[in-house]
Amino acid sequence: MLSRHFFTLAATVAATLTLGALPAAAQGSLNVYCSAQVEWCQAAANAFAKETGIRVNMSQKGSGEVLAQIRAEAQNPRGDVWYGGTGDPHLQMAEDKLSAVYRSPMLDQLHDWARKQAEQSGYRTVGIYAGAMGFGYNPELLGKRNIAAPACWKDLLDARFKGEIQMANPQSSGTAYVMIATMVQLMGEDQAFDYLKGLHRNVNAYPRSGTGPIKSVARGETGVSISFVHDAVTERLGGFPVQYVVPCEGTGYEIGSMSIVAGARNERNAKRFYDWALSPAAQQIGAEAKSFQTPSNRNTPIPAEAPKMDQIKLIDYDFAKYGSSDERRRLIERWDREVNSLPR
Ligand code: F6P
Repeated sequence: MLSRHFFTLAATVAATLTLGALPAAAQGSLNVYCSAQVEWCQAAANAFAKETGIRVNMSQKGSGEVLAQIRAEAQNPRGDVWYGGTGDPHLQMAEDKLSAVYRSPMLDQLHDWARKQAEQSGYRTVGIYAGAMGFGYNPELLGKRNIAAPACWKDLLDARFKGEIQMANPQSSGTAYVMIATMVQLMGEDQAFDYLKGLHRNVNAYPRSGTGPIKSVARGETGVSISFVHDAVTERLGGFPVQYVVPCEGTGYEIGSMSIVAGARNERNAKRFYDWALSPAAQQIGAEAKSFQTPSNRNTPIPAEAPKMDQIKLIDYDFAKYGSSDERRRLIERWDREVNSLPR
């Protein structure tokens, strides 16, 4: 069974370097909530601390969990920046004014899709990467069980996948919410919920974290996962028998985002981190840490290993609608009430 995939990187990344004549402590600190893969979070914290002398406290959690935490802390914010994670909850955070308005001087360097995320939110969030949704699978495990790999969303309803599929829980995971919003956009809402109920029969677990299912595939604990396909690349390069497929009907995608918490105690350092995180040098840390999303700065090289977004049949994902507070809350509640409560 999948263990709880929830990291708190208590690791306080203390800067060991000094900046000019100033000791690191004089630069102050920064509290970052991170929803990218933990290796990337840690590498980014280290690099920023080293470059600036700012002490970085980093904790990694799923997108839904970070939004819930920021909401709970709204009267007394403890985080300064939310770095990474799917775009919909960042948009929800913006709508609820839980994030600060900031127009980074780096915006001009970004791809349109990343800048649009900023414009759409009144400059309360910005795109830092993009990635497409699909399936990961373990060809060795499926081969042993004589199960043909899935090619389309509809295949996942087939009885051959009974107990073979994992997707994350949309309450905690932004990945799982993107999947639900994708099905609603592909099929219409009621058909999408019929689909999700059918899928539920074949699901063996809904882990907290979006990357939980693909890690289970890698370890041979489940045959198939619903995942961002860049996360399948990470596992394959880690030496695990993992392949990925982009569903034949078309698929949704994320604009991984970043926001400054409204009322952040370390706002100056937060802005400095924000500008830094949009630079090509900082964005290359993702690939160095084996994360293969498409970076948002036009000058950041797209890693050779990254799934080619322009060759994937993407839906015209309606970020304004599915990132709105009411819609996101409503769809997750409906999933919990009508799908998660059903026996398997
Ligand atoms: O690579 C990690 C990743 O898939 C990101 O691309 C994404 O933004 C994040 O995980 C979402 O995590 P979760 O589903 O746990 O919110």
